[in-house]
Amino acid sequence: MDRRDFMKTSSALLAGAAVGGKVFAQEQHEGSEGRMVLAMNRGWRYSPKFVEGGHEATFDDSGFDRVVVPHTNIKLPWHGFDDKEYEFVSLYRRKFRVPAEARGKRVFVDFEGVMTASTVWLNGQRLGEYKGGYTPFSFELTPHLNFDGDNVLAVDVDSTERPDIPPFGYQIDYLTFGGIYREVSLRVVPATFIENIFAQPKDSLSGSPSLDVECFVQHLEALRETLTLEATLLDGEKTVAKATQKVAPSGAAAEPASHVIAFGKLTGIQLWDLKSPKLYTVKVQLLRGSNVVDEDTRRIGFREAQFTDHGFELNGKIIKLRGLDRHQTFPFVGQAMPGRAQKRDAYILRKQFHCNIVRTSHYPQSRHFLDACDEYGLLVLEEIPGWQHIGDKPWQDISVDNVSRMIRRDWNHPSIVLWGVRINESRDNHDFYTRTNAMAHKLDPTRQTGGIRYFQESEFLEDVFTMNDFGWPLKEPNHPRYLNTEFVGHTFPTKTIDDDAHQREHTIRHARVHNQLASNPQYAGGIAWCAFDYNTHSDFGAGDRICYHGVFDIFREPKPAAGFYKSQCDPDEEIVLEPAFHWASSDEATHFTVAMICSNCDHLKLFVKNNGDWKPLAEVDPDKEQFGHLKYAPFSVDLTKSEWKWGDLRIDGYLNGKQVISKTLSGLGADQKFAILADDHELMGDGADTTRVVLRVTDEFDAIRPFANDPIVLTLEGPAELIGDNPFGLIGGTGAVWVRAKEEAGTVRLTAKHPRLGSQTVEIAIRQAKAETV
Ligand code: GAL
Repeated sequence: MDRRDFMKTSSALLAGAAVGGKVFAQEQHEGSEGRMVLAMNRGWRYSPKFVEGGHEATFDDSGFDRVVVPHTNIKLPWHGFDDKEYEFVSLYRRKFRVPAEARGKRVFVDFEGVMTASTVWLNGQRLGEYKGGYTPFSFELTPHLNFDGDNVLAVDVDSTERPDIPPFGYQIDYLTFGGIYREVSLRVVPATFIENIFAQPKDSLSGSPSLDVECFVQHLEALRETLTLEATLLDGEKTVAKATQKVAPSGAAAEPASHVIAFGKLTGIQLWDLKSPKLYTVKVQLLRGSNVVDEDTRRIGFREAQFTDHGFELNGKIIKLRGLDRHQTFPFVGQAMPGRAQKRDAYILRKQFHCNIVRTSHYPQSRHFLDACDEYGLLVLEEIPGWQHIGDKPWQDISVDNVSRMIRRDWNHPSIVLWGVRINESRDNHDFYTRTNAMAHKLDPTRQTGGIRYFQESEFLEDVFTMNDFGWPLKEPNHPRYLNTEFVGHTFPTKTIDDDAHQREHTIRHARVHNQLASNPQYAGGIAWCAFDYNTHSDFGAGDRICYHGVFDIFREPKPAAGFYKSQCDPDEEIVLEPAFHWASSDEATHFTVAMICSNCDHLKLFVKNNGDWKPLAEVDPDKEQFGHLKYAPFSVDLTKSEWKWGDLRIDGYLNGKQVISKTLSGLGADQKFAILADDHELMGDGADTTRVVLRVTDEFDAIRPFANDPIVLTLEGPAELIGDNPFGLIGGTGAVWVRAKEEAGTVRLTAKHPRLGSQTVEIAIRQAKAETV
């Protein structure tokens, strides 16, 4: 049955309760003057079951597990499991004492992300329920806080698929997992405090940009005196400009008051660009005389970004968008991966594979990931939670609130260039989408909106027509500002263990879509489905509950099609030569046919080794016949046309007549080497910091042997936890586990033993982390 047809018949939803709490975006930092932001990630006690009396301050939780967030409510295999295994209600408890300086202040708890509904209790007092797994929320603790002794925060975490909460209510093609999977902190502020900051650079291309710093000041109590807001623009430690504004006496108010501090005609400002993503800091202080009452900071960038009728323009230059959709889920722990692993994904996409845009399908993603997008120059289309289904009015209210929380959390990220304000691939709903779109425009007049659709006749309420077009050839743009947001995906799932013909076709399908997108300036570009293979429900995927739709596998190891993305950068960034095949004499229906090679070289020479000599095999230019619109068209070499004898293959790449790169693939057909590669060799001993360790079997030239499936036995010594299977069964010649630091310093040694190719060890230093103060 087609899921889109089925969806049309789906019914309305149950009613939902109101959304509680305010949203405060902030860095996890301590020691800003005025306010205290105190991390509360360590020292949680966790029970996977509901426990009678578990919310009470006096409850004895010594029998619970001691856990650190990000935390998954259950560890799982990397595939072939049922979502019901994580769909349960669990209980988290955290004891704390507030510092003496908190007396007389207002105290909040800020949750960055808990899947999916959280009922929060303080000292046995129910504070409320927040519905939503991808958006931040807060509760004020002040009235129920014991300022002199122990306090206990308890959270019932409902990780079932509640139909009253987006994205649930029908079916979704991904898993949401469970637990307190993002960070938690305590925020101590005065009764009048800085609730949020929105810094809006203007005229960035004029040579003398201006900057409006909108400061949201919350008055929880009446303010009887005049305070001063001071905004400072910083380049690193250096002050670029400073300006102030008065905050007049005011009554208490539910909504924060907006104060705009305007900086005009700034000089010497560097733009945020893809190649040099220059970042500045805005610091805002609230002053009583010269005393700092409150302070907060945001990172920003000066850039102009807009979708036009002739494509996407960044800083006045058209950039053809070339990217991938990303789910933020990982093997074994679902979404509970800390900052380092989140940032690594942005690094892979931008720095290693040269994408220029990512879509956070289908929800607001980790702030760490977005920070890395800012740092690496990776553009972002960020969207609200949802998948095809629209619920009833209370469900829609939550969704509109999701728009607000997403934007108010993320509006300072220069990398974000488009808000997605529709439920991915839902039907039209005029009233609902008028509301989501209006909310986005009201909050953020600086960015355009889109809303991801699957049919071109859809009512166009946003600024950019964002369309999932899985067909071939692609539909012509039917609106001036037009972006393709999904293609390939389920129309050609590909596993790392698929044969050469399949890998080649997968690569061709990505390349030919980008070729068509390059043919017409009205296409702003394309974001393919998708970056990484992902866990899903039984009604999707390959039968093991994985959608093998990535150009990377679930461990973030590239498939040949990823080489196409990598090859599209200019050679001054990196010279790329990526064969879109494994070198095998007969892994297709008939021997080996066409060698497809993704490269930004302008000429290739191929050689095959016979009896110790390299014999010329072919010489080729880019395949402009098939990919005429691409700046760096892949190469197609038909090896059925000539007589040649099997052996090692060498490919030499040329630019302007000069050889610039060479790759060799073994013709031997034997597993030769075993490698273990850690992304990082140093972690913080905070109980959460995590790095990936990749395992690979290769030929003698380091090319992965795709059918190696040996069991790798792992031994870990030192203060860390192994996240992953042990033994780990290689898949596609590769795979990965993660090493998560415990809460102490030391040296970790991970040894991986291949049954025939020996053992390899990596060392990871665990640094002493500062203890949490609450
Ligand atoms: C799309 C959907 C994605 C994913 C994809 C698979 O229709 O938006 O979430 O399911 O199909 O190709």
